[in-house]
Formats: sequence, C-alpha cells, structure tokens
Amino acid sequence: MKVLVTGGAGYIGSHTVVELINAEYSVVIADDLSNARHEVIDRVQAITGTRPLFYQINCADKRELQTVFTRNEIDAVIHFAGFKAVGESVHKPLQYYRNNLDSTMTLLEVMEEFGCKKFIFSSSATVYGPENPHPYKEEMPAIQSSSPYGWTKVMIERILTDYTTAHPDFCAVLLRYFNPIGAHESGLLGDDPNGIPNNLMPYIARVAAGQLEKLTIFGGDYPTPDGTCQRDYLHVVDLAVGHLKALEYAKSHVGVEAINLGTGNGVSVFELVQAFEKVNNIKLNYIIGPRRDGDLPAFWADATKAKALLGWEATHTIEDMCESAWGFAKNTSL
Ligand code: WQD
Repeated sequence: MKVLVTGGAGYIGSHTVVELINAEYSVVIADDLSNARHEVIDRVQAITGTRPLFYQINCADKRELQTVFTRNEIDAVIHFAGFKAVGESVHKPLQYYRNNLDSTMTLLEVMEEFGCKKFIFSSSATVYGPENPHPYKEEMPAIQSSSPYGWTKVMIERILTDYTTAHPDFCAVLLRYFNPIGAHESGLLGDDPNGIPNNLMPYIARVAAGQLEKLTIFGGDYPTPDGTCQRDYLHVVDLAVGHLKALEYAKSHVGVEAINLGTGNGVSVFELVQAFEKVNNIKLNYIIGPRRDGDLPAFWADATKAKALLGWEATHTIEDMCESAWGFAKNTSL
C-alpha cells in the first residue's frame, strides 16, 4: 500500500513515516520544507534503511500535486502539511487560511481525480474550544477555536465532513492531537522548530542545552493543584502509531470519524519540568511569569474511542517523553 504523507519532513510527520516504513508501507513525502529540513529524509533512511520518495512541493500547487499522483499510485493520504504556530496565526490570518485550506482542498480535488478515497487528517484538540468541559469527548461540539490556526482545523474538519457526505465511499479520519512531545529513541528525529520555540517541551530542551537562558512558566496562579496549566502530553511515537492504526481502520471503513489521540491524563507544567529534571539529572533555570493570552487552565482527552475503534492507546510515560526529548536536543546542540 502506497501512502502520501504531506508534511512528512516535519516533527509528527517524520515520526509517522518511520512507523509506516517499519510496517512495510511504501511512503511518498510531499513537503515544501517551510518548517522542516531536507536532512530529515536522510535521518528517516538512517533509522529504517529505506529512503522514502520525496517531492519538495506545496500541496496548494495543483499541477505539482497531480505530478505526484501521476507518478505514484497513491492508496491513502495522511495530511500533516500546514502552518501551525498559534501566535503567528493571530498576526497572519490570511496566510494561514490561504495555505491550510487551499492545500487541503487542492489535495481533495486531486485525490478525486485519481480515485484515492482514504484521508487521515492531522487535527487538534484546539477544535474543542474554551467552552467544552474536559476530558474532551469526540461527540462534544468542535466548532470553535481561539486562533486562526485553530479555526483552520475546525474549517478543515467541516470541509472533510461535507465532502464525505457528498462522496459516501470516501473515508476521512480526523485525528485530534493533544500535546505531542518527545522524540525518536535514536535521537535523530525530534521537535526542532525554526527560531524560538512557542511550545513548552522544545523550549525546555533548549534551556537544558544552554541555547536559551531560562524557561518562563506562563502563570503560576491558575485554578489547578499546583497553579500551573495542565495538558495531556503524549509521546510523538505513540501519536505516530495512532496514524498507522487509523490507516488500518480507514482501509475497511467509509465515512468521517473524529478520534482523540491523547493519554487521558492531565500533567502540569511544574510536573513536566520536575520530570525532565529528574530523568535527565539536570537542573532547569526557570521563573514564574505572567499568564499567556489564550491559554486554558486545564484540558485532556477522553481516550476511550481510540481504544475501542482503533485498538490504540498511549504506552509511553512522561519520563520516556522527557528522556527522549533531551536525547534529541543533545544530538542537535552538539
Ligand atoms: C503547554 C503549556 C503554556 C511555553 C499548543 C497549540 C495546540 C497544539 C499544541 C498544534 C501551557 C506552558 C509553554 C513556555 C510555558 N499545537 N508554557 N512556557 O498551548 O497547550 O498547545 O501546542 O496543534 O494547538 O495550542 O502547548 O506547549 O505551547 O503550552 O509555561 O515557554 O506550557 O502556558 O500551559 P498548548 P504549549
């Protein structure tokens, strides 16, 4: 089975490509490298012994995408490609709507042209918005978000739902990620954002590596047990395996299905910092600063549907996540 992985040179995409290759899938990557490095393809080959086909294209470019489908008989698509910086999206809404929506709609048009009917979408827990109580369940309204980035996820879920209604033999699985962190055990793949990281774990890793002076914990006065925000952190390799399970499911199903990929546990910023220090025997330099706009105090997944429908559940511990994140950061900081 040949799978097109858009954004396959990125953090979650590259980890998913490794698991796909290990499961004997044939993989084609389409990535414009706007937020990823070509070196990742070499590292995937180093880990798996197989070099995936790679096309440096933006999925909104229909002619380029048609070329990929003409040269490869694509059986399914896993769609990661898209801009994903929450804060940036507030300042650049048009670029986010244009890029994330255009690439998805162009992909669907080309898939239809070539008779490809299996679509796994990289969605996000952000679609649950601030109104829903946690733990988040898939049947809750997922119709709002707090940033243009989040709204693109809400809109793409809508597009896929309506497309599947119009094409009953199509299968779209909407994977709603919680907070993926950690890295491949080899230390060759990990979360390596351009510039100063927005997200917690890559920021912690760079402080530990001495590339950033200190971590600022955004708010210590939240209504949570230790005053810092709680999130559902899951290991990126668990997340990658979740995509394999979703692909297996899509092979024998049609229709649209939203599925949470999370551990079902809430972990606070303090708890993550302490776990990172303990497992890596490192003292992190941090201060408590003001809250960050838009942050919710706490949310985590109800993960029962993924277990029931996909036979998937997260297996790695917070310690595994912290140890692997440091293993990658040490590698890249050398
Ligand atoms: C986690 C916690 C921060 C940085 C975002 C997106 C979401 C998804 C995952 C794409 C929060 C705190 C962070 C720092 C801190 N991305 N923090 N100091 O905001 O839960 O989710 O990333 O799909 O859509 O919204 O993740 O890692 O940014 O923050 O104290 O320097 O860490 O306040 O409580 P978040 P995060």
